[in-house]
Amino acid sequence: VTHKREVWSGRSVFIMAAIGSAVGLGNIWRFPYIAYENGGGAFLIPYLVALLTAGIPLLFLDYAIGHKFRGAPPLAFRRLRRGAEFIGWWQVLVCFVIGVYYAVIVAWALRYTFFSLTEAWGDDPEGFLIEDFLQQDGDATFGLSFVPGVAWTLLLVWIAVLGVLALGVQRGIGNANRFFVPLLVLLFAVLVVRSLTLEGATDGLNAFFSPDWSALTDTGVWIAAYGQIFFSLSVAFGIMVTYSSYLKRKTNLTGSGLVVGFSNSSFEVLAGIGVFSALGFMAQAQGVQISEVVAGGIGLAFIAFPAIISSMPGGPFFGVLFFGSLVFAGFTSMISIIQVTVSAFQDKTGMSKVPAVLAVGGVSAIVSLLLFPTTTGLNTLDVVDRFANQFGIVGVAFVALVVVAWIYRRLPELRDHLNSVSSFKIGAGWMFFTGILTPILLGYMLFSEIRDRIRDGYGGLPDSLVLAFGWSVQAAVIVLAVVLSFIPWRKGIDLEYELDE
Ligand code: PHE
Ligand code: NA
Repeated sequence: VTHKREVWSGRSVFIMAAIGSAVGLGNIWRFPYIAYENGGGAFLIPYLVALLTAGIPLLFLDYAIGHKFRGAPPLAFRRLRRGAEFIGWWQVLVCFVIGVYYAVIVAWALRYTFFSLTEAWGDDPEGFLIEDFLQQDGDATFGLSFVPGVAWTLLLVWIAVLGVLALGVQRGIGNANRFFVPLLVLLFAVLVVRSLTLEGATDGLNAFFSPDWSALTDTGVWIAAYGQIFFSLSVAFGIMVTYSSYLKRKTNLTGSGLVVGFSNSSFEVLAGIGVFSALGFMAQAQGVQISEVVAGGIGLAFIAFPAIISSMPGGPFFGVLFFGSLVFAGFTSMISIIQVTVSAFQDKTGMSKVPAVLAVGGVSAIVSLLLFPTTTGLNTLDVVDRFANQFGIVGVAFVALVVVAWIYRRLPELRDHLNSVSSFKIGAGWMFFTGILTPILLGYMLFSEIRDRIRDGYGGLPDSLVLAFGWSVQAAVIVLAVVLSFIPWRKGIDLEYELDE
């Protein structure tokens, strides 16, 4: 049997899917907070530098690897060089880990879209979230008692994700993104306009944009900018490798990368404007300083926003826009993460699409359903998330660059591949950013994260929890990646494949 690789029908659908993957929860609930905490308006400078010197160059690298070697990460890296296969599996497993908890947040957002209609949280959003909705047991470290209201929503999310993947790259992923990405942009634009017209919005914007220039001399601020860019563009952990492996041979890769990179950042800045306008309104309504209401992540989406929704006219409508945006942004990212695992499994075993989706997606769904919709799920999620982002993503990106650029010295060839098909040509700058600057930065980020976690633990959570769901999970991922790289490939696959230019 020959296995013909699926293809996108054209470049625009690939770009849509890549934007759908990049634009996620990180744009809406992470960027505004990180920017505010790291110099406000002044943060835009390190942020832009990080985009141009690391985000876009790494996006190009992912595209080059996926497009030249035409495979999900294990196959693509295996074709790049035999010994590099484990990097591909490490990326796949990082995606698996992220996928199992990312779905949970999408599920919460889905429920909150409906909660908005009745402002179900009453006048205590925090109590409602922790006690009524998530039913967290503050004392227990880990347990398996289920919270049905979360579990069934999560099940729905998994069914939807796997349904899209089962339809295939073009018909499922492509069409889902062609529908959801424009819808997201529309909803979000209405949300931002509405936020801007709220009383107090200007105070919020002033707080967000007023520059603290001294931040520019703070290394922590620069690291935060690079961290945001890596996470936000979903680079160097397999997603973009997978999506670009479905592109036709003659495709303008760097041109597409520029569109994706700038679209993601534009969405992020737009989100900053929307979120801070709304926070400005909230501060005014409560008669407090903006700094007292600023939050990021779960606290922003599921505690601050409900409070905002409750105190404004037309709140339910605003709530549907906000949580609907989270759902669509998260869903299109979720699809891309799980596709990496499915695609890798198909490459390795030769299994066809639907059984592969059921097998790999089914396992992911089960793990997700067992671990997170429980009375201890919130803390578990917090730890897994922290380690996956600050250790998994950063670690695999660092190792991939060291291996590809330093040990195997393959950047010149990847540069030539990009230039042979693309409109925007790259040269020594790209080689320097990808081969030298970024690995050094990533190495430093990895080192300081490991040092801090060893020294301080994480978030005041019990060491046993951090050990089990932080360190052990990340270590298991690396060991398993190596093991998987020793399992033989299906018969008949061309492991020496090279795309002739
Ligand atoms: N890039 C996405 C964001 O900004 C996050 C994401 C993480 C997407 C992991 C895919 C995989 O939210
Ligand atoms: Na993003």
